Amino acid sequence: MSARRSPAPSVADALKRWSQSFGVRFDGLLTAGDDLSPRLMEAMRYSALAGGKRLRPYLLTRCCEVCGGSADDAFPAAAAIECVHAFSLVHDDLPAMDNDDLRRGRPTNHKQFGEAAAILAGDGLLALAFELVTRCPVEPSRVVAVVAELARGTGWLGMIGGQMADIDGQSQAPSRELSEYIHERKTAALFQSACRIGAIVAGAADESQVAVGSFGRCLGHAFQIADDLLDVTSTSEQMGKGVGKDAKAGKQTFPAVWGVDESVEVARRAAERAVESLSPFGPEADDLRALASYVIQRHH
Ligand code: IPE
Ligand code: IPE
Ligand code: MG
Ligand code: MG
Ligand code: MG
Repeated sequence: MSARRSPAPSVADALKRWSQSFGVRFDGLLTAGDDLSPRLMEAMRYSALAGGKRLRPYLLTRCCEVCGGSADDAFPAAAAIECVHAFSLVHDDLPAMDNDDLRRGRPTNHKQFGEAAAILAGDGLLALAFELVTRCPVEPSRVVAVVAELARGTGWLGMIGGQMADIDGQSQAPSRELSEYIHERKTAALFQSACRIGAIVAGAADESQVAVGSFGRCLGHAFQIADDLLDVTSTSEQMGKGVGKDAKAGKQTFPAVWGVDESVEVARRAAERAVESLSPFGPEADDLRALASYVIQRHH
């Protein structure tokens, strides 16, 4: 979007640096151990380790630290949330869903491995996520709360429910209420859970969990509006995925339902609300505040 300024380089750079070291540790968790059926882990690794901004595990880790916890304690949960995200993308691209050929500059999982392997790789990543969170080295009551939060953000009231509404929305009349509902569930719910899980791992008080959860939800809403806008205004080279497809598919995106100008405005307000949610925190949360501008100004 030409009207937008470039994201502050420090936020984008910090995220990039962090995601490189996260990627190395994450790779170590996804090891191929099944000699008779190596294709499943190969397909899981293909989508989990193919790059990506790593925004959800970064949020989880930083929210944990802001609430007084340690990045090491958060790592298994950070890896888990990225597994859920990778699963969501593999299934989102399937012919029965968005039917996309390109993801992160490479063929989508089903294009590379076939549909059956892609479905199973997504399933495998989802199951692995729940195995990983049980490895958080914190007291069992926190681990139980993390499992519940991950299930909420992922499941029928979260990302998966939002994906169903997104698909159903293609055959429904444009609706502001429905477009909000879709965004809240398919994207904002997992952002919210990422932030809340960070706080839970840290053993934060309820108010802090609510504050970072609200930050994540507003940020996720702004993030998905930006994604919808980029589908209209960006190029496939920039995004590493197909563009211009939402309109063809009749998706209830923000630009389709609200128009471009109002979408930009709603995203700006959501980013503002995200920052306001962090008012209980001091300068230690400044990089989270900066992310709010980053998500609406990003170019990919
Ligand atoms: C893409 O998410 C799917 C949406 C929720 C819009 P990201 O833009 O975070 O994808 P990667 O992980 O960086 O590729
Ligand atoms: C996907 O939304 C949200 C998910 C939960 C995966 P999109 O369908 O707009 O994501 P992209 O544009 O394919 O990455
Ligand atoms: Mg989709
Ligand atoms: Mg899609
Ligand atoms: Mg999109």
